[in-house]
Amino acid sequence: ASISLGTSVERDFVERLSESKKRCICFYSSQTGTARRFAGSLARELKDRCQIPSMLANVADYDFVHLDRLSKDSIVAFVIATYGDGEPTDSGREFYDFLNDTDVRFSMGGQSLPNLRYMIFGCGNSSYEHFNKAAHDIDQRLQELGAIRTGTLGLGDDDHSLEEDYIEWKDATCDVVVASHPVPVENVSLDTLDFRIVIPPDEPPVTFHGELSWGKTGTEEVHEPFPAPVIRSIELFEDPSDRSCVHTELDIGESGMSYQPGDHVGIWPCNPDLEVERMLLILGFGVGNKRHTILDIEALDPTLADVPFPTPTTLIAIFRHYLDISSIPSRQLVAKLAHHAPSESAAAHLRRLGSDRTAFNSDVVIPCMRLAEILMCAAGDDLSLAPSPCTVTTWPKVSIETLISMIPRLQPRYYSISSSPRLYPNHVHITSVVVREAAGRSIFDTRTRYMYGLGTNFLLQIKHALGKEMCLSVEDALPSPRYDLEGPRSKYLNNGVYSIPMQIRHSTFRLPQNPRIPVIMIGPGTGVAPFRGFVQDRVAMANSTRAAGRSLENWAEMHLFYGCRKSDEDFLYKNEWPGYAEALEGRFHMHCAFSREAPLKPDGGRVYVQDLLWMERKEISRLILEQNAFIYVCGDAKSMSKAVELVLTQMLAEARGGSAEIEGRKELKVLKDRRRLLLDVWA
Ligand code: 2AM
Repeated sequence: ASISLGTSVERDFVERLSESKKRCICFYSSQTGTARRFAGSLARELKDRCQIPSMLANVADYDFVHLDRLSKDSIVAFVIATYGDGEPTDSGREFYDFLNDTDVRFSMGGQSLPNLRYMIFGCGNSSYEHFNKAAHDIDQRLQELGAIRTGTLGLGDDDHSLEEDYIEWKDATCDVVVASHPVPVENVSLDTLDFRIVIPPDEPPVTFHGELSWGKTGTEEVHEPFPAPVIRSIELFEDPSDRSCVHTELDIGESGMSYQPGDHVGIWPCNPDLEVERMLLILGFGVGNKRHTILDIEALDPTLADVPFPTPTTLIAIFRHYLDISSIPSRQLVAKLAHHAPSESAAAHLRRLGSDRTAFNSDVVIPCMRLAEILMCAAGDDLSLAPSPCTVTTWPKVSIETLISMIPRLQPRYYSISSSPRLYPNHVHITSVVVREAAGRSIFDTRTRYMYGLGTNFLLQIKHALGKEMCLSVEDALPSPRYDLEGPRSKYLNNGVYSIPMQIRHSTFRLPQNPRIPVIMIGPGTGVAPFRGFVQDRVAMANSTRAAGRSLENWAEMHLFYGCRKSDEDFLYKNEWPGYAEALEGRFHMHCAFSREAPLKPDGGRVYVQDLLWMERKEISRLILEQNAFIYVCGDAKSMSKAVELVLTQMLAEARGGSAEIEGRKELKVLKDRRRLLLDVWA
C-alpha cells in the first residue's frame, strides 16, 4: 500500500515549487534507493549545468491532480523504479494508478496536460518479461494527455549497466535542455555541495553511532529497523571450506513485526574494517582520536538533498554504517573525485576512468575495485600493505561534505524468509549462500582479487562469532572481509547476544490459504528458501487439523522441484524434508536434480529442475489445468527462471494439443494474469 502523508496543501507540489523558487521538480519512486539517487543527481545537474533551480521529491508525497497547474517554463522529471516484473514500486503505485485512470481529471477541471514538459527515466531489469513497464506506461500516458517530453524515454537496465544507462540518458537530456536554453559557460558550477559540516562546540545530548533512523524528516517517516537477536546460526553445506551456506535464525518476538511465508527480510550490515580504515586514512584521520570527532551535518538546500542519515554522528560511524563504500562505485563518482586528487597523476588516472567506459569496466568493474582501492591505486599506493599512514596517501582536498554528497547511503540486503511463523512463532530464518568469488585481475594489484557479498559475509562472521569458530584460513577458501561486531559502541553485541538490525518487506509471493489447492514449487539452490516456509506452513496447518480431530483427506499435493550440485554436498535442509512429507501424510513430493552427480542426461549434460519438470509434465500439467494448482519459481533470474518458463510453456502446449508459441504462451499468460504463476527471482 502506498503511504499518503501530509495535508493536501503539503501535497501540492506546484505550491512547493513556487515557495522555494524552483522551476523543476525531480520525482522518484524508489525501491532500493537507486532511483532516488539518480533523481537527486539529475536535480543537481539541472541546477548546476542547466541553471534550472530544482528540487527533489518522492512521488508518494504529492498529489498529481496539480500537474496541469505548472507553468510552461517549469519542468517535471520522473525517475521510476520498477519492482519485480515491471511493476511500479509500493511508493509509486498511487501515482501510477492515478495517471492511468481513464477518467482522470486535473485540478483545473481538464483532462489533458498540454503545458506539461517532462523527462523520464525508468530503472528496470531486462531479465524480466515486462522490462521497465511502469516507466513505459507513464510515458505513454503522459503523451496521450498531450504532455511534451524533453529527451528520450530512458530505459535503464539493471541486468547490464543501469548506472551507464542513466549517465548516458542524463547527459543527452541535459544537452537538449541546454540547447534550448544556452547557459553562459562562466555560470556553470561544478560540484556544488549539498551539505555543510559543523563541529558542535559542546558535546550534543545525543550522538548517533550507527542508528538508522532519524525520526521524521519532511513528510517521510523512517522507522528504525528492529535489532533482532540471533538465536542460532549454522552451516548448511557439508564442506564449508569450498562454499558456505549460512542458516541464521532471528528472534522477532519483541519487535511487534509479523510476516508470512514468502516475505523478505532486510538486514543492515556494516562496511568491513579494511574499507573503513582505508577511507579514514585517505581523509587523513589515520591516527589519534580524530575519527571519533562528533560532526553535525546540515543540508544547504533541503528541497534538493536531505541529510541522508541521523546526525550528529561521528566520522567513523559515517564510514562504518552510513555510506556505501563497499560497492563498486559509479563512474560519475570517480570522475568527480578527479577534481579533488592530491596530485596531477592521480587526477589524470581518475579522469581516464571517469571518461572512458571501457577503461572503467576493465580496471574497476571486472576486478571489483572498491572506492578506497581506486583512490589508493590512483595515488600509487600499494594495496597489498596493511593500511597505515605510511602506506596510504592522504587526499586533503576531499572533504567529508563532498563524500557525503556523492556516495550513496548503505542499503539493507534482502533475503527470502525460509521459515513459517506457524511453525516457528516469533522467528525469522534466513538461508544465505556466502558470496565470495574470484574477480578479474587488476593491472594495479597483482594478487588474486575477489568480490564478496556484504550481507552474506556479515552473516557468516556472526556465525563464526557465535560458534567461536576460527575464521577459515586463506588456503581453505577465498578470504572473507572482517567486520567490527564487538568494538566499543557496537550495535551488534549486547550482553553477550548478537543482534542484527532488520525489517520485513511484505511480498505477493503467497501460498493459497486453502490446502485443497495443489502447489508446485520450483527453487534450486537458495531459491528453495521461501518453499521451506511454504511447506512448514502446511505442516503446521496439518498438525493443528489433526489435533482438532479432522483428517487431511481432501488436501492437495505439494510438489517441490529442487536442484543442487550433489546430494552429499550442498543439499539444503536434506534431513528436514522427509519429516515434512510424513507430517503431510505423503502429500509432499520432492523432485531433486543433482547437477554434478550421475546420472547425467543422455547427451552428457547436467540435470536441472526444468528437466525434472518436463519428466513429470503429465501429472504437473494435470494439476495446473484441472485442479487450479499454483506455481512458484524462486532463484536465479538470468537462466533458471527463463528455462523453467520455457518448459512450462512447452508442457502446457502439449497438454492442450497446441503449439508452444501460441497455446503454451497463452496458458502461461493466463496463469500470470490470474496470479497463479508467481516469481521471486533475482539477478
Ligand atoms: P550447476 O552449478 O551444477 O550447473 C543450484 O545452484 C543448482 O542450480 C545447481 O545444481 C546448479 O547447477 C543449478 N543450475 C545452474 N544453472 C541452472 C539453470 N540454468 N537452470 C536450472 N538450474 C541451474
